[in-house]
Amino acid sequence: MLIGRRANLLEQLASELPGSRAYEADVTDRSAVQAVLADVLAEQGRIDVLVNNAGQGLHVRLEEVDLDDFRAVLELNVVAPLALMQLVLPAMRAQGAGTIINVSSGTSRGVREGVGAYAATKSALNMLSAVARAELAGDGVVVSTVYPTLTATEFHSTLRAGSGRRAATAVADTAEHVAQTICDLVESGEPEAVLSVPTPSSQSA
Ligand SMILES: NC(=O)c1ccc[n+]([C@@H]2O[C@H](COP(=O)([O-])OP(=O)(O)OC[C@H]3O[C@@H](n4cnc5c(N)ncnc54)[C@H](OP(=O)(O)O)[C@@H]3O)[C@@H](O)[C@H]2O)c1
Repeated sequence: MLIGRRANLLEQLASELPGSRAYEADVTDRSAVQAVLADVLAEQGRIDVLVNNAGQGLHVRLEEVDLDDFRAVLELNVVAPLALMQLVLPAMRAQGAGTIINVSSGTSRGVREGVGAYAATKSALNMLSAVARAELAGDGVVVSTVYPTLTATEFHSTLRAGSGRRAATAVADTAEHVAQTICDLVESGEPEAVLSVPTPSSQSA
């Protein structure tokens, strides 16, 4: 079940993934997400895995952060994943099993100038994810966090504000590599997976 706002891209992806289905929805719109989940449950009868992947960067120095931008990024990077975790929980609890993967960022694992507002949202997500893991352990629901470092996607060209100048010159992981790491984390149930800083040799491997 693929959720995003651009129906054309979702349909294209769904056509490449047999058995998948595209849902056009904004994950910050609670009623839209509720409708998608109701549809999924009506059709599939269960929800095995939730991947909270949607996110946006805000790459400016703290003194330049527009507070409305910060609220918007908080809504997408923190509130929406929490809401989605809450919404899938009844089904996962009833099944006695489920996996939730929250996609954080390596940016939240250190102090880097110019990305503090984005890193703060991911740090909040890290704590929600870790506490959810502890709170849900007794229900058979496994919550894990993945920390990509730099991935070659649209991310740095669709920042809420700022620029991805460093990203433009650095070696990046492929989206497929990060997706495989997420699949491995679903299988292992480990608390977290941290993607190392990619190097030219690791990309050709
Ligand atoms: N790229 C990196 O270097 C990097 C590094 C560390 C962590 N991350 C994290 O990895 C995750 C994935 O990022 P990415 O690199 O794949 O970025 P991306 O290329 O910008 O993709 C973001 C995805 O989220 C969807 N999305 C964004 N806002 C949405 C909304 N309101 N409702 C529904 N879907 C929405 C987008 O689809 P639509 O636009 O069609 O809605 C798109 O599929 C993010 O959480 C990001 O913070 C990325």
